[in-house]
Order: sequence, then structure tokens, then C-alpha cells
Amino acid sequence: MNSKTNGNHKSNAALPGAKRNAHIAGWGKYVPEKVMSNDEIAKLVDTSDEWIQQRTGIRERRIADPKETTSTMAIRAARDALALAGLNPGDVELVIVATATPDYIFPATACLVQNALGASRAGAFDLSIGCSGFVYALGVGASMITSGAVNNALVIGSETLSRLLNWADRGTCILFGDGAGAFVLRASDTPGGVLSYKLGSDGSGGDLLIIPAGGSKHPISQEVIDQGLQFLRMDGQAVFKFATRVMGKAAKEACELAHLSLDEIDLFIPHQANLRIINTASKFLKLPDAKVMVNVQKYGNTSAASVPIAFCEAVDAGRVKPGDNLLLVSFGAGLSWAAAAVQFEPVMPSKPHTAKDVLADWFHYNVASARSVLSHGLHRLDSVTGRKVWGAKDPK
Ligand code: ACO
Repeated sequence: MNSKTNGNHKSNAALPGAKRNAHIAGWGKYVPEKVMSNDEIAKLVDTSDEWIQQRTGIRERRIADPKETTSTMAIRAARDALALAGLNPGDVELVIVATATPDYIFPATACLVQNALGASRAGAFDLSIGCSGFVYALGVGASMITSGAVNNALVIGSETLSRLLNWADRGTCILFGDGAGAFVLRASDTPGGVLSYKLGSDGSGGDLLIIPAGGSKHPISQEVIDQGLQFLRMDGQAVFKFATRVMGKAAKEACELAHLSLDEIDLFIPHQANLRIINTASKFLKLPDAKVMVNVQKYGNTSAASVPIAFCEAVDAGRVKPGDNLLLVSFGAGLSWAAAAVQFEPVMPSKPHTAKDVLADWFHYNVASARSVLSHGLHRLDSVTGRKVWGAKDPK
């Protein structure tokens, strides 16, 4: 148990069901192999490595290969998180995919992930709230655990924003990258885990960061495409000002709800959108650089994937230790924001993956794939036989 909280800490004071806690039991990330440097972008639009680094801190980002999608990246991150948590995919009870770039409008990307993982007992849904999505999903997953509705949840942030950028718009195409990150949350009586969260929205700024087409307002048509409405549009300065205002405030609120002072925060893991925004928020919170996780230089803004990817890299770098208090904050389209205070207590078996486990995983995922093909075939059969039966008996 964290000596700082000494067992007197009011865990989940802001969450229902105070005795059940939602712990981060596993985590994983996936980023595409292809690295795109600022110099490469400077060949497409009138910009420079110097300008991009100075204004954003970004040096490079990852771009999904044509065969990769939001679901395929989510599956890679989820498999690693499940392996670390020692949780059999067949025992997963809930899959939430936070994404602004789903594979399709429907079915939900979470359903594709659930099927590929062979998580046959899980409910699954997408959560769409732009870059704030992962921290929102963390709050929802944690609440479903503490309420007793589920015993575990796979919470994923995955994005393929490169497909929705206008690569001729230097105000946006420099900022974003692709990737995925996942947490396994599990119920436990041990104090700690997700201590609190604060969600926010201000829809009056909806048009400041928007992909206008592809929904019911502007379905895809030649006219829509001619106007370029299928691409991400942003008023960079307005979003910048909003972000600097809201990040520090949301972070403070999440701390207050968790009864933590800012001094008790060991690591601040903010949404990785722009180094200047991160620095402004850290300054507002009076957090020294040593307590702030930054990896925006490597990946740009990966939207809902940025916080879990940053968390994974912080753990790998030895910057997150058992008992640490973490502050996760994000902001984005909506406009929206979310912050969560987490006490990291990997109480579950975060065990090293043995060769036997790897073999068991291989077997499980191949069985899941075969079952998916079989099940798909049965749905088709239903359709054919249904047509025959209902076609013959079609009531007048
Ligand atoms: N290269 C060179 N010059 C550029 C570029 C570029 N890539 N982009 C803009 N400029 C120019 C502008 O045209 C402008 O020129 P002018 O003075 O001659 O008119 C000048 O640089 C300054 O432009 P600003 O927009 O004022 O630049 P700013 O310092 O605000 O930086 C940026 C722009 C990086 C987009 C910044 O506003 C920002 O990061 N905003 C927040 C974006 C963000 O965090 N989005 C979150 C998304 S979350 C989600 O849900 C998806």
C-alpha cells in the first residue's frame, strides 16, 4: 500500500461503491512502424522542421500502413495489456474503444476488437469524444467496476487520424499521428486504482475542431468532397487557448475529488498535443519537469491514444512505481476535457509472459479467428435460409 496514503486515503470518494476499486492491472501500446519526420512534411506543405519543433515540440509521428486501421492497432495494444494482466480474453467483461476515427460509422470498432480477441463474454461499445476519449473511457470503465456491473474492463484509445487529415493544410497535418494504447482494469478490494475523475464539455466550441462530413448532417457526396468537408478542420489558436485554460483546472478538480494535493502527485500524464500546452498546464499546477511525462516529440498528437501510450512509456522508463499517484488529463474536440487521479497499485498478477503463455495466446487467438469465420458463416446461413423461409411465407 502507498505509504503516502497510509490506508486512510478515501479511495474512490468520488465513485459509487467505495469498497470495490478499479485497478490498472495491465497496459499495452502499439504504434505503426512508419516514422514521418517534419522534413518529410515540409516536402508536402510550406513549413519547416524548425517551425514545427518551436511551435509544437513535435519531431516526428507514426503513420499507419494501408492495411492498418483503428481496430487492428487497438487489438495489438489490447493483446499486450491482457497478457500483462494475466487475463484470459474469454473472461473480459467489457470492451470500450475511445476513438474519433472508427473503422466504420457502425459497427462499433469495439465490436471488431471484441471479436478478434475472442472476448465472447464481453459487452462492447465505442466512446466518441475526440482526444478526451481515453480518460472519459477510463472513468466509465472504472465506474462500471466500482458499481459492481462488471469485474474487469478493457479500455482502449486508438486512432488513425492520418486518414482524415488534409495533407495540404499546414495548420493541421503537422500535428497528428497514429497509434493505440490499452488498459485492463480489474476490480479489487485493495485501496487505490482510479481514485476520481472529472469530465467536461463545452459544445459551443464544436466548430473549432471538426470533421464536418461523413455524419447525418453532411453525408459523403461529390459536393461534400469538392468542398473538402471530409477532412479535419481546426482553429488552432482558439483550441490552444481553450486547452491552456481547461487542462490545469480539470487536473486540480480531479485531485480535489481524490483528496490529493498537487504535491502528492508523482507523475502528470497530460494529453500529448503540443509541448507549449503541456508546459503551460504544468506551470499552472506548479509541477516540475521531473513530474511531467512528455513524448509528443516522437508521436505528435495521437488523440485518444496519447495518454495510454504516454503511460506505457512512463512505465517502461521506470517513471511509474507501485503506490505512485498519477494525474491523467486530456482535452479535445467537443470541445471536451477529462481528468483522472489514479493510484497505481498493480495488485493483480502483472506477470512476465512465459513461452507457455505465448503459445496459449497463439492458440486462443487462432481459435477466436476460426470461431469468428464459423460464426460469420452461420449468420450468412441464417440470411439465406431466412430469405427462403420468409420469402415463401411473406405475409400479404
Ligand atoms: N508552418 C509554418 N507556418 C505556419 C504553420 C506551419 N505548419 N502553420 C501555421 N503557420 C503560420 C500561420 O499561417 C501564421 O502566419 P501569419 O502570421 O503570416 O498569418 C503563423 O504561422 C502563426 O500561426 P498561428 O496559428 O498563430 O500559430 P500558433 O503558434 O498558434 O501554432 C498550432 C499553431 C501549432 C496549430 C497551435 O495553435 C496549436 O497547437 N493549437 C492547438 C492544437 C491542438 O492542440 N489541437 C488538439 C486537438 S485534440 C482532438 O480532439 C483531435
